[in-house]
Amino acid sequence: MAVITNVEDLRVLAKKRVPRMFYDYADSGSWTESTYRANESDFQKIKLRQRILVNMENRSTATTMIGQQVAMPVAIAPTGLTGMQHADGEILAARAARDFGVPFTLSTMSICSIEDVAEGTNHHPFWFQLYVMKDRDFIERLIERAKRANCSALVLTLDLQILGQRHKDLKNGLSAPPKMTLANILDIATKPRWALGMLGTPRRQFGNIVGHVKGVSDMSKLSEWTASQFDPALNWNDVEWIKKLWGGKLILKGIQDPEDARLALNSGADALIVSNHGGRQLDGAESSIQCLPAIVDAVGKQIEVHMDGGIRSGQDVLKARALGAQGCYIGRAFLYGLGAMGGPGVTKVLEMIHKELDLTMAFCGRTDIETVDKSILLPGTFPT
Ligand code: GLV
Repeated sequence: MAVITNVEDLRVLAKKRVPRMFYDYADSGSWTESTYRANESDFQKIKLRQRILVNMENRSTATTMIGQQVAMPVAIAPTGLTGMQHADGEILAARAARDFGVPFTLSTMSICSIEDVAEGTNHHPFWFQLYVMKDRDFIERLIERAKRANCSALVLTLDLQILGQRHKDLKNGLSAPPKMTLANILDIATKPRWALGMLGTPRRQFGNIVGHVKGVSDMSKLSEWTASQFDPALNWNDVEWIKKLWGGKLILKGIQDPEDARLALNSGADALIVSNHGGRQLDGAESSIQCLPAIVDAVGKQIEVHMDGGIRSGQDVLKARALGAQGCYIGRAFLYGLGAMGGPGVTKVLEMIHKELDLTMAFCGRTDIETVDKSILLPGTFPT
């Protein structure tokens, strides 16, 4: 196999190894995908200042996110259907994150359940992402399960009460598990590693939901299920209700506008995530890195600001940090590693991002991530 040196190598390999409907689910944005593309390409416009003859010994990328120690300012983002990129995907990724020293966030829409991940990581704390559904009893139980599993933060997603249309998911008939149509059988026949893995695990449907909600045994039509179950009337009073129920660290995800950032601050949350859901919701929204400075400006002194969207390298992490994000999240980057090589693929992604972050920081004349700020960027090349 060719030597893997970057996330793009893993994306190419994942595309070969993961059934098309699941690869496409990860690698897509809504409608024209313009925001999805901008999330990545806007990072390229930001230029770094090279500095020389600065002592580069004893470098450190260690910092904190919501007061928790992290080996670098990167967490694994919550992504739906991770256990369909690779058998037991959530457990494997959570272990890789634990061993590397960064947080893992489990999605409500995961294949492996909260309990599966807790058991699979020897009860090492992880973060849990919550979608609020109309069935509030179910939400109360879900929060209770996250507490019992020793989750150390709740990540509340606020930008997906209704689902942005992703053309490929509709065309592919996305479902978990996949329906055994002729097209799917032919496709899976070319992905034997994936199929063998799936045959070896009992975890093939939405583990947090199936068996936990009355009358839900088939959620296979994901877009229809979301439309009927997610609560389109969600509002800031619900955030307050959830904050009380949870009682622990709360992170609000999906903020793009300074006005919403101020409301997030007033809610008493511990952190917010500047995010457009990986370009999967409002197509035409600004990229996350473009939005970040105005939000840091508005609330950054009073609440911790994180970001996601478009992070594919250590350079991207460094730029986000320079623009005021205390930490950022990788979604697709880790999914490509997982789809390509399972758990070792996720470790590989974390290692590659860490190495590039560490070296780039040194080229910019810094040895400690805590000292990185806007002054490492070339004026006029970054949003203000
Ligand atoms: C769910 O979070 C999705 O973006 O598909």
